Amino acid sequence: MAISTSLVNGSENAEEHRPDHGLANLSLSSKTIHADDYLNKGRDVAPPLHVSTTFRYNRDPDQLKAHRKEDPDEPYDEHVYSRHTAPNTTRFEAILSDILKGPALTYASGLSAFHALLVFLNPKRIAIRNGYHGCHGVIGVHAKLTGLKKLDIDCPAEELQPGDIIHIETPLNPTGSAYNLKAYAEKAHSRGAFLTVDSTFGPPPLQDPFLWGADVVMHSGTKYIGGHSDLLCGILAVNPARAKEGWWDKLFEERLFLGNVMGSMEGWLGVRSLRTLELRVERQSNNATKLVAWLNFALHSEESVAGDAKVVKAVLAKIDHASLQYEDIKEGWLLKQMAGGFGPVFSITMKEQIFARRLPSKLQLFHHATSLGGVESLIEWRTMTDPRVDTRLLRVSIGVEGWEDLRDDLLQAFQALSEESQGDSKK
Ligand SMILES: Cc1ncc(COP(=O)(O)O)c(C=O)c1O
Repeated sequence: MAISTSLVNGSENAEEHRPDHGLANLSLSSKTIHADDYLNKGRDVAPPLHVSTTFRYNRDPDQLKAHRKEDPDEPYDEHVYSRHTAPNTTRFEAILSDILKGPALTYASGLSAFHALLVFLNPKRIAIRNGYHGCHGVIGVHAKLTGLKKLDIDCPAEELQPGDIIHIETPLNPTGSAYNLKAYAEKAHSRGAFLTVDSTFGPPPLQDPFLWGADVVMHSGTKYIGGHSDLLCGILAVNPARAKEGWWDKLFEERLFLGNVMGSMEGWLGVRSLRTLELRVERQSNNATKLVAWLNFALHSEESVAGDAKVVKAVLAKIDHASLQYEDIKEGWLLKQMAGGFGPVFSITMKEQIFARRLPSKLQLFHHATSLGGVESLIEWRTMTDPRVDTRLLRVSIGVEGWEDLRDDLLQAFQALSEESQGDSKK
């Protein structure tokens, strides 16, 4: 498709490109590279970093217009104070709104985005499963002020009332298992409740929760959106139908007062990161799916005396990942929902706790660290940060390295563990 030269080169009057900047039918990568072109003002190809917290008003007194949200002519790229908007985050949000397919706002972290969501919707009940423990921490803080009650996500629909929330994390932390969004959307909407989706483990291009009825999509942008383990970020994207009901405007207004905005450096890093989102996530998803298939084959193979299978079987008890949900794949919803590929996180449960404790130190290419989504592979003995999980479980976040290198690294580490345990048992 043709892109106008003024759009690429920037224009003195960026406003003229705002309503339709001509990118609707482009691929994900074309969007992550060009969806913010309409904000170009200078000749820089790489967007400049603006650190100012405050912005000069017009020197012409006749041009001075008090900031009023309801003013339809309010310039969208003129900034007043960075708790409201700032150039780097506005640019970042412009791309996010395009690729998440609903107007998006950014926050200081994933948890502050979740907090903003609870403050905005202020439900009486929230139906949720285990998932990321930090979100349960936020619910605890919010409940202190509001009396918010938690329900099990699979509670009977009758327990939900208008204005309540089903909050679903899919794929789920830490296992990487996926859940049927359409079924939960139908359940929530049948009761006048809302579906909010934590899609952190399923960034574009893997899934689009709005296709299946999500009212709000949340991301910890710290993970795949940032992608380099160097920025904290939270994101809320609003279903376009809900945005027409004023949800985005209200969230925007409330963010100004909650003050939970990202810094400009993070906005700048976020744009740098989004440019390669599709390349990174596709590679990470492919790598993870290949590794899971290899591990699963070895674990369940008949070959019991030699080769990879012997080494894997000696130490590994279980693998969890959406690619192994064969029933759901057969039913059809899973491949439709994760049309862009499975998530790059999976979990492994070792035969013994001591194996889980020792495995990270035997690996060369995986950092032993919490978090996920970066270009580098991470492994975490999950009990280090989440007291609720099986102490034999490790969460694995796959990066963009060569998958065969990661496979060989895991194999040599399993081998070392199994030799060590044979040595221990002889002592
Ligand atoms: C699924 C999920 N949601 C939310 C969060 C919180 O994000 P942040 O650390 O950016 O606050 C995390 C963090 O690991 C997460 O895994």
